[in-house]
Amino acid sequence: MILVTGGAGFIGANFVLDWLALNDEPVINLDKLTYAGNLETLASLQGDARHVFIQGDIGDQSLLTRLLADHRPRAVIHFAAESHVDRSIQGADEFIQTNVVGTFRLLEAVRAHWASLPEAEKNAFRFLHVSTDEVYGSLAPDAPAFTENRAYEPNSPYSASKAASDHLVRAWHHTHGLPVLTTHCSNNYGPYHFPEKLIPLMIVNALAGKPLPVYGDGMQVRDWLYVKDHCSAIRRVLETGAPGETYNVGGWNEKPNIEIVHAICALLDELRPRADGASYATQITHVKDRPGHDRRYAVDARKLETELGWKPAETFETGIRKTVIWYLEHTEWVAHVQSGAYRQWVTSHYEVA
Ligand code: NAD
Ligand code: TYD
Repeated sequence: MILVTGGAGFIGANFVLDWLALNDEPVINLDKLTYAGNLETLASLQGDARHVFIQGDIGDQSLLTRLLADHRPRAVIHFAAESHVDRSIQGADEFIQTNVVGTFRLLEAVRAHWASLPEAEKNAFRFLHVSTDEVYGSLAPDAPAFTENRAYEPNSPYSASKAASDHLVRAWHHTHGLPVLTTHCSNNYGPYHFPEKLIPLMIVNALAGKPLPVYGDGMQVRDWLYVKDHCSAIRRVLETGAPGETYNVGGWNEKPNIEIVHAICALLDELRPRADGASYATQITHVKDRPGHDRRYAVDARKLETELGWKPAETFETGIRKTVIWYLEHTEWVAHVQSGAYRQWVTSHYEVA
């Protein structure tokens, strides 16, 4: 079996759902259920013995030690993090606690577990750390995309905390020999994305008749990847990546924010036209820019493509259409997130640590 941290969040939950749809290897899912953790996303796994959910903190080393001893996973996939840049600007405490200290505690518990394994299991064991392209900082308009050799230049409290965790993971490999793998993915989008991030926020606000708040001039560039393509990349790196290596993950889909917002508006105009016949684009409002806003991210994923043979399945056009349709069809999930009802989701069938 595998141990996943943060498996009730956006990417972690998509990963768990895809994993169990593709094979029967059980998943231990450790998640603290912060505001970003949503068990409703995993409702289809209720009663499925292949999924064991544990509510707990990656900073709780004794819990981790117990979980690792009880379940003896062959791999740990580490998604758990505070992930929203704007929240990290409001206050960075939780980012340091979870992303830095939490990753340290997790590494220590995993190292002790790994060291105790028999040789064959020890050799096969993997710790996969899910990082971000944001650790590389901001690119000039014509600069080449980030490769794995790019120097770290994190600019936000979020990216600085992720960079710190990357360094710890690297050191635990270099010093202690822990077989680690690190992925640096670009911006994800798709089903079950918490509507505080750009793409789901725009869909949800558009449908509610609210303003679509574009920071500054909207010409900041992000490199978008459909979440299920990120999950397939993680599976590929887990099975075939070389310990100690880092892999960039991206779909060569660089787009300025304003273009993303217009693409969403055009899809909604087609799929759910406004009653008054006007375009959703009339709701676009330019608002104050984010402090320290990184201007451009772009990922060079050639190492993953050539060495491990990974390719994304979706283009931006197919992925964004699927995403908009998903949000149109899952209004209850969105309503529960917005009302806070998802936090009262019945957890009685889950083990609470
Ligand atoms: P998310 O915020 O949606 O989910 C994070 C999950 O971690 C939540 O379920 C939360 O409850 C859990 N969590 C937080 N603190 C915890 C703790 N101390 N102990 C246990 N669980 C805890 O984040 P996401 O967008 O799914 O991102 C997952 C990972 O992928 C993060 O490490 C993030 O840095 C990385 N990443 C995200 C993107 C993106 O576009 N979203 C891109 C590249 C990399
Ligand atoms: P976000 O989804 O927060 O991801 P990240 O900051 O990690 O890239 O934001 C994506 C881009 O969209 C980023 O350039 C900030 C911008 N943005 C807006 O213009 N308006 C918004 O309301 C939000 C949430 C983001």
